[in-house]
Amino acid sequence: MKILVIGGTGLIGSKTVARLRDLGHEVVVGSPKSGVDTISGIGLAAAMDNTQVVIDLANSPSYEDVAVMTFFRTSATNIAAAEQVAGVKHHVALSIVGTERLQENGYFQAKLAQEEIVKNSKIPYTLVHSTQFFEFLKGIGDAAEANGVVRLSPAYVQPIAADDVAEIVSSIALGNPLNGMIEIAGPERVRLSELVSSYFKAEKDPRPVVADVHARYFGAELNDESLVPLTAPRIGRTMFADWRLAAGKSS
Ligand SMILES: NC(=O)c1ccc[n+]([C@@H]2O[C@H](COP(=O)([O-])OP(=O)(O)OC[C@H]3O[C@@H](n4cnc5c(N)ncnc54)[C@H](OP(=O)(O)O)[C@@H]3O)[C@@H](O)[C@H]2O)c1
Repeated sequence: MKILVIGGTGLIGSKTVARLRDLGHEVVVGSPKSGVDTISGIGLAAAMDNTQVVIDLANSPSYEDVAVMTFFRTSATNIAAAEQVAGVKHHVALSIVGTERLQENGYFQAKLAQEEIVKNSKIPYTLVHSTQFFEFLKGIGDAAEANGVVRLSPAYVQPIAADDVAEIVSSIALGNPLNGMIEIAGPERVRLSELVSSYFKAEKDPRPVVADVHARYFGAELNDESLVPLTAPRIGRTMFADWRLAAGKSS
């Protein structure tokens, strides 16, 4: 089967491309570095030719509110138009658990706009809502730092390893379109402030992590339901401690 992976050079994209190629599929990498740009449209029609499945794993180069909204709206619109011409049978897009609950935040607003374009296109689709990737924890800590102190909500999270995201997204892409949303998450539910604190300790990062129920997560105040799946999710197999161990061995 011919599969186009938009964002195929990224964290999840590169792992998804490798997995699908291992399974014997013809996979085209769609990213600016590989000559496919979903904003300008350059290379998109050619990459889409004879493609049955498109997996959108692109991310905006800027997280500034207007830029991120423009990116996801333009990208999703151009992809949907090209899919229509090519007769694509299944569009899979990766979004975030809680997107609809965190609309104070510009990034989540942009992801919701992307999802609406996918839903309103005529292409059969599956929206995959993932929890935070283990690989994103440092970014969460960095974004929450002020004056050397990291202030984070103790709200529950259920993070997942990028390898598991790629594995589950690949299997969803090879299945029938749900024309709906499916949630994916890691095997453990933990408190965000405690997780980042233990991650920093393991990384020998000296910054103190303070639990604060009012600390904002990229602009949004959290509760225990904000970032965790509320449906029966597909669960990644990797425990955080095992991921840490493997990351330590490879670094
Ligand atoms: N971080 C999390 O915890 C989390 C959780 C749930 C869902 N997600 C979602 O997961 C998705 C993938 O995230 P990621 O961390 O794997 O992304 P990433 O590593 O930042 O990779 C971004 C990808 O987007 C591509 N890209 C950028 N501009 C493009 C354009 N104009 N046309 C085509 N491709 C373009 C990049 O290509 P180049 O390499 O060529 O620049 C790269 O392949 C995102 O949509 C994000 O919202 C993230």
